[in-house]
Formats: sequence, C-alpha cells, structure tokens
Amino acid sequence: MYKILKAENPADKIYLMDVEAPRVARHCAPGQFVIVKMDEKGERIPLTICDYDREAGTITIVFQTVGASTEKMAGLKAGDAFRDFTGPLGCPSEFVYEDIESLKKKKMLFVGGGVGAAPVYPQVKWLHEHGVDVDVIVGSKTKDMLILEGEMEAVAGNYYPCTDDGTYGHAGMVTTKIEKLVEEGNNYDVCVAIGPMIMMKFVCLLTKKLGIPTIVSMNPIMVDGTGMCGACRLHVGEDIKFACVDGPEFDGHLVNFDEAMKRQQMYKTQEGRALLKLQE
Ligand code: FES
Repeated sequence: MYKILKAENPADKIYLMDVEAPRVARHCAPGQFVIVKMDEKGERIPLTICDYDREAGTITIVFQTVGASTEKMAGLKAGDAFRDFTGPLGCPSEFVYEDIESLKKKKMLFVGGGVGAAPVYPQVKWLHEHGVDVDVIVGSKTKDMLILEGEMEAVAGNYYPCTDDGTYGHAGMVTTKIEKLVEEGNNYDVCVAIGPMIMMKFVCLLTKKLGIPTIVSMNPIMVDGTGMCGACRLHVGEDIKFACVDGPEFDGHLVNFDEAMKRQQMYKTQEGRALLKLQE
C-alpha cells in the first residue's frame, strides 16, 4: 500500500497529494508518469509526476476530476492509501540527457495550461537545480484556478501568469503572451507546452509560424498507460506512436492533434457514463 501523506484541493476540481513511494521517488525523472489504482478492482489512472523528494521518498501527484475514478480519488484523505502506485513510467524529458553547458546557452520557454502546470513544474525545477533558468507561462481561466504559483516562481527565471478573464497577470490566452514575449525580443530556441489538447494544438500552430521547435506531452489521451489498450495511439508525422510507451513527449509540430482529440472525446463519453453511474 502507498500511503497518502498530504491531500489538498488547491483549486476547484484540482487535487494535490503527496504519496509515500520511495522506490519511484528514487528513480524518477522529469517527464515521467505513474499509474495509480485505488483498490484491487479500481481503474488504472496514469498521472504525470508533479514533484518528488528523493530523501523523504515521496511523490507529488496533481489531478483534475474528469470522471468517476478521479471523482472517487478526490475523496481520499491523508492517511488513506493507494493499492498500486506503479512507476516511474514513460521516457524522461529529452533535456535530461543533454549537456548542461549547452542547455545553459539555450533560451527555453515552458507553457503550462490549467492542470498542465503540474507536469511543467518538475521540469523547470530540474533545470533550475542544474543552473538553467527558463521562462514560464502558466495559463488558467481565472486567478482561482492557477496552481503551484509560489513553487513555480521559486524555480522559474521569469514567471508569467495569464488568465482568460483578465483577473490576474496577462489578460488572455497563453498564445497571445508567447507572441508578446517574442515581439519584445525573446528569441526562444525551444518551447515545451503541456496542458489541454486544444491549448497544445494552438501553441504548436503559433510556434511553427514563429519557427520555435516545440515539445508537447500527450499524457491527456492515456487510459491504461501500458501500451495495451491502444487509446493513446497517435500519428507523429508519418509514424504511429503510443503516448504511454513511446512518449509522453513528442515533437508538437508533427503531432496530429485533430486525430488525438477525436480519440480523447470517445473516451470522455465512457468516463461520463461511469460518472453518472457513480452518482446514481
Ligand atoms: Fe493504453 Fe497507451 S494508454 S496503450
């Protein structure tokens, strides 16, 4: 069993938990994910690792309630435990293998949308710990929906919050903030965008136009996270990939987002049905 040491609800429908999982904490790297299971018959839920403490042996996960299983998971409290907590899975972010000195010469931009700020955070933190400071844009609908603000500010070179309703930070979508930063003379060598599929699609359309290579995380389309269900199958250029085993990170300019979003919709319907059943 994997004990939950802390359970918080930092924003509406968004939950953060610290879980005791020393083996995962010892071996994980930014970009990787875990699969959690609440009980023997529970659904397998893939979640990107938001933070880890190797000494304390803990992993931080952040999730948004989107269906029956995540709704049930939101009810777990500190002291409860997960039946399974498998990981680390997936490939670490590519920069982990790059030479630190050449990373320091790059101008990197990270873009997180909504709960996508959670998987962006360990990447920015890892880079900061290795002496690489990057720019970070985090977007949400309103100020209340922004998560991990203090944490992100502590590790980002520059932190730019954006809200759709203009209540805080830059007023508007993350794409308008990217345009603004580029107009102001920021020549980014690479962009990493993680968030809702539609956000990643529009960030990629923009960065393609601006000539900024872009990495995206296709975690949102994963279902079982083992390469068995086929739900995360996607086209990356001419190649067919599975987000859970070949990714989750891919060249965003090559990802067929329309196909991936169609597939995601299909599963949403099933999640919706399961949620209705839970509420009966
Ligand atoms: Fe099922 Fe990747 S999530 S095959």
